[in-house]
Amino acid sequence: MTSKISMFVNNSTARGRDTIRTGADGHIGAVQHSGRSSALDRNADAVEIPLIRPNPPSLSSLTKELLEIENRGIYANYGPVNSRLEEQFVRAVFKASGACVTVANATLGLMLAIKQAVGWQPRGRYALMPSFTFAAAAHAALWCGLTPLFCDIDPETWLPDADAEEALLKRYGNEIAVILPNATFGNCLDLPRYHRLSAAHGVPLVIDAASSLGSLDQYGEAFGMGSAHPLVFSMHATKSFATAEGGLVYCTDQGLIACLRNMGNFGFGQPRVATMPGLNSKLSEVAALLALTKLRNLEPVAEHRQALYELYCKLLPEFTFQRMTGCRTAHQIVSVLVPEEQAGHVPELVAQLARRGIGSGRYFVPHLAAQPFFQQTCVADDLTVTEAIAGRVIALPMSDFLTANEVGHVCDIFRQVCHQHPTRRTRAGSLALNGVVAGGLL
Ligand SMILES: Cc1ncc(COP(=O)(O)O)c(C=O)c1O
Repeated sequence: MTSKISMFVNNSTARGRDTIRTGADGHIGAVQHSGRSSALDRNADAVEIPLIRPNPPSLSSLTKELLEIENRGIYANYGPVNSRLEEQFVRAVFKASGACVTVANATLGLMLAIKQAVGWQPRGRYALMPSFTFAAAAHAALWCGLTPLFCDIDPETWLPDADAEEALLKRYGNEIAVILPNATFGNCLDLPRYHRLSAAHGVPLVIDAASSLGSLDQYGEAFGMGSAHPLVFSMHATKSFATAEGGLVYCTDQGLIACLRNMGNFGFGQPRVATMPGLNSKLSEVAALLALTKLRNLEPVAEHRQALYELYCKLLPEFTFQRMTGCRTAHQIVSVLVPEEQAGHVPELVAQLARRGIGSGRYFVPHLAAQPFFQQTCVADDLTVTEAIAGRVIALPMSDFLTANEVGHVCDIFRQVCHQHPTRRTRAGSLALNGVVAGGLL
C-alpha cells in the first residue's frame, strides 16, 4: 500500500453510508441515505463499495462560521465569505496569478463564459466541443443561441482529438463561434495548443474543466494556471472538490473576470442598471463557506485519489485506462475499458458488479450525439472513437473513504466479472453497440 493513501474522513459518523446510487444499468441516481427496509432497494443495499461517496465539509462542524453569516445578515451577492474564497483560490491554487469569480454551479459558469466570449450577437453559429462529455456543455451552448458541433476524441487520452478539431475549424471557418474543449475526467488539455488554435483561427476559447479542481499539469502546476482564456470548474458534491453545488471561473484576464461577475449579477455594470447580458449565477455565502472549508483538504484529497488510481492501474494491468497527461488527476471516478468482446454489454457488467457488492457506472454514456434532444438540436462529425469508447467504458469506485484493500477487492471482482462471463461478439452485440449511436438505447 502506498504511503500516499490516507484517510481524512471528517464526517463519516454523521453521514454514515451516504452514497450516490447507480441503477442496475449504471446510471447515476440521486444522493440517498441507505436504509435497509425497502425491498425495492435490496439490490442497491447490497452495494458495499459505492461508486462515489460525496464528502463535502460537515455543516454541523461549522456552526460558529454559520452563526457569523447569520449575525452579519449577508447571505449572497458576493459577500465577505465569497470574497475570501475567491482570494484564497487564486493565492493557494493558482499561485496568485490571475483572478476568479464563483458561480452557483459550473453550468451557469459555462453559460456566462460562452456568452462573454461570443458576444450578444455571435459571429458564427457553432460551439465546437466533444460528444464525449456531459450534457451541461451542450445545454450551455444552446442557451447561448449556439449549435453544438461534436468532434471525436483521442483514443488514448479521451480528450478532444486535435486533428478532428483542426479539420472542423478549417471546414466551418467563421461559422464556429467558440471552441469548448472538455478536460475529460480531470485529464489535462494541452492549453498552449488551444491558445495557438484560438489565435490562429480567431475563435474564442472556453475550457470546460468541471472535474479538474485538484488536477496538476505536466509541470506540477494547477491545471489552467496562467491561462488567458477562462476555465470553468465545478464544485458539485460528486466532484473530488465536493461542496453541494458551486463552481468557479478562472483566468489571468482580470477585466474578463470582472465582466463575468457583472454578467452573473443580472448584467449590472452600474448599480442596479443592466449594461450587458446577465443572469443570476451568484454563489450563496453558505455554499462559499463549504468551499472555503473544502479548500483546506484539496491537496490530501487529490493525493489520496491519485494514489488509489495508480493502485487500480497496477492491479489491472491487462485493462486499458485513460492515458493521463498531467502529473496528478483529481479522479472523480476511475474509468477503464472492458475487454473488446464485452463492448456494448457494460450494463450487464454493471448489474453483475452490483450483485457482488460493487458500485459502478457509465460516465458520458450515452455520449451527447446519442441523446435524443441533442440529436435534434446539434451537429455531429465522425465519432468513431467516441462510439468505440462509449461502448466499453465503465467507471469503478473512487472516494475519499475508499481504502487500498477495497481497491484490491474491487479489482478482483471486476476481473472475475469481465473474464468469467465472456460475452461472445455476436451480431446482436454489434447491433446493440450501434444502438448507442443511433438512439441512445443502451
Ligand atoms: C464535463 C462537465 N461539464 C459541466 C458540468 C456541470 O457542472 P455543475 O454540476 O457544477 O453544473 C459537469 C458536471 O458533472 C461536467 O461533468
